[in-house]
Amino acid sequence: MIDFRSDTVTRPTQQMRQTMAEAPVGDDVYGDDPTVNQLQAFAADTLGFEAALFTSSGTQANLLAILSHCERGDEYICGQQAHNYKYEAGGAAVLGSVQPQPLTNQADGTIALADINAAIKQDDFHFAKTRLISLENTIGGKVLPLSYQAEVRKLANERQLALHLDGARVFHAATKQAVPVQEITQHYDSVSICLSKGLGAPVGSLLLGSKELIKKATRLRKMLGGGMRQAGILAAAGKIAFEQMPLRLEEDHQNAALLAQALKALPQLDVTEPQTNIVYAKCLLNKQNDLRDYLLEQGILISAGDPIRFVTHLDIKQEDIITLTNHIKSFYQKYE
Ligand SMILES: Cc1ncc(COP(=O)(O)O)c(C=O)c1O
Repeated sequence: MIDFRSDTVTRPTQQMRQTMAEAPVGDDVYGDDPTVNQLQAFAADTLGFEAALFTSSGTQANLLAILSHCERGDEYICGQQAHNYKYEAGGAAVLGSVQPQPLTNQADGTIALADINAAIKQDDFHFAKTRLISLENTIGGKVLPLSYQAEVRKLANERQLALHLDGARVFHAATKQAVPVQEITQHYDSVSICLSKGLGAPVGSLLLGSKELIKKATRLRKMLGGGMRQAGILAAAGKIAFEQMPLRLEEDHQNAALLAQALKALPQLDVTEPQTNIVYAKCLLNKQNDLRDYLLEQGILISAGDPIRFVTHLDIKQEDIITLTNHIKSFYQKYE
């Protein structure tokens, strides 16, 4: 199957599997796993943070960040489209009694500074206490401008709020902007990064922050049952993902651009120009489900949804883009 549903579907490379098999390990709950420790130290150093924590998933890393910044009865400001608001089962509210304050995401993925300012609560016992702003970059494949992130940092400083980044795909953003990833992460008090999205590791994310924040997050991770023992087996693949895979993301962006260009030739589709590795196309005939069934018969997987979302990644080659576009063209021929 050629799988365009998400960049989470990648399988570990041969090098990852080999390195996992040979990884030195220890009990990470005791802090004894050398491979986990190496990954955490390397990531913290690379991204300019005091400390890092290896987590089971991006959802867990975001949850630990929110619960480490906030107390019960606090709130975090985020986008309506934010993964940590919309797609993480309300974890911060359910498990931490931390209320989200979602705000409209603008067409470019940002949240208007005026909206953030207006949503920050006064110190009044009627209100939850606003503690944290959480941004996402990339968001829906869109890259947040560097100047915008600097402005939100300034606002957070002025209003004495912490600032978190869901940077599941922050390396995609850095690749698009052709800047070292620290240019982005420097603005934040904490950042979560997924090793298993686009970077190709089978499992795992990282949370980065101050020593104090990571100490809190480590306790919370244990509480959530996320303290893993010989986790170096997983961190070994994560280390390859973190060190090597950002270098090849440009290829995914080029494949996404190639796909968008080919699909734009079809009058039945309204295609949005991709910024990174995600292409959105609206089927103007409302035949997206039929197209999905047709592609499945040809051995191609795409997500359900309107607009249709195609994601390029490590396991998608240029010839797969050509195969996909040829089948989509064949599908629409019957509607000409
Ligand atoms: C932007 C973003 N943040 C966080 C996550 C959560 O990651 P995980 O699926 O590892 O929990 C995802 C998952 O797709 C995501 O797209």
